[in-house]
Amino acid sequence: MRVLVTGNQGRIGRYVQAQLEAENHIVVGFDRAAGDDIRQPAALRAAAQGCDAIIHMAAMLADPKDDPNDVMHVNLQGTWHVLTTAEALDIRRVVCFSSVNALGIFIGESLPDYLPINEEHPCRPGRPYALSKFLGEEMCRLFTRRTNITTICLRPPWVCFPENYARVRQRWAEKPESEWSPIWEYGAFCDVRDVAAAAVLGLTCADPGHARLLLCADDVMTSGRTSRELAAQIHPDVAWRGREEYESEPFRALVDNSQAKAVLGWQPRYSWQAQE
Ligand SMILES: NC(=O)c1ccc[n+]([C@@H]2O[C@H](COP(=O)([O-])OP(=O)(O)OC[C@H]3O[C@@H](n4cnc5c(N)ncnc54)[C@H](O)[C@@H]3O)[C@@H](O)[C@H]2O)c1
Repeated sequence: MRVLVTGNQGRIGRYVQAQLEAENHIVVGFDRAAGDDIRQPAALRAAAQGCDAIIHMAAMLADPKDDPNDVMHVNLQGTWHVLTTAEALDIRRVVCFSSVNALGIFIGESLPDYLPINEEHPCRPGRPYALSKFLGEEMCRLFTRRTNITTICLRPPWVCFPENYARVRQRWAEKPESEWSPIWEYGAFCDVRDVAAAAVLGLTCADPGHARLLLCADDVMTSGRTSRELAAQIHPDVAWRGREEYESEPFRALVDNSQAKAVLGWQPRYSWQAQE
């Protein structure tokens, strides 16, 4: 497959590109670091000529130093240009990077209604980045409804790079409360290699129409407490909906990844417990 990859020079993008190339796909990169701009539709369309699919990662992230107008401009108009390019060139599949932030219960926005979190949890993002990700998903949903072009929105939590495992453990050893203070992100993470694998599977999996999929490792980031203990200690007032699986798998993730597994045929390979 020939795949247009926006944001291919970013931190995750480099892994996605490597995974695509390892599977003998051809990558057409599109990144501001190479002088491209997702806000320019004609340039995007020129790059996408002859492509069979698009993986869209180019975005501005949740950096409080960024101008919210720029975040909205790049993230929403960027997604719009990707979708209109797909339609104009009859590219039938788009894998879009959203984020768990679309839910509005990460980066300290609000507490969840319940734990563990799944795709049914209501979305109530308020901050620019989170809102841009949620509205990008909605744009994809309505685009698929009209065009029948497949849009798969991936919602990773904190993406963990190989070098991060030891760093986080070191930080927790020096300052134990940093595990949950100032913000506890439900111990959710996904290894960048698993994120890249999910994105590439999105190109060839059975057509789900439009899908929004939480990507998460199978287990929780923890210095030792089980998932249930963490939830009870940090958010005692949040309703607990975990069932008996948390008895047999006490470190099971608090973000449900079962839909991603079912839709993509994906299985995360990297776990917190195994990365000693
Ligand atoms: N890193 C995480 O923990 C995480 C978690 C959830 C979702 N995501 C999403 O994954 C995607 C990739 O994130 P990342 O961590 O690799 O970020 P990154 O900042 O490393 O990469 C983003 C890339 O987009 C490019 N870009 C930015 N503005 C552009 C523009 N106007 N035109 C063209 N290219 C532009 C940048 O040059 C950069 O290479 C993003 O959509 C992000 O929202 C990341």
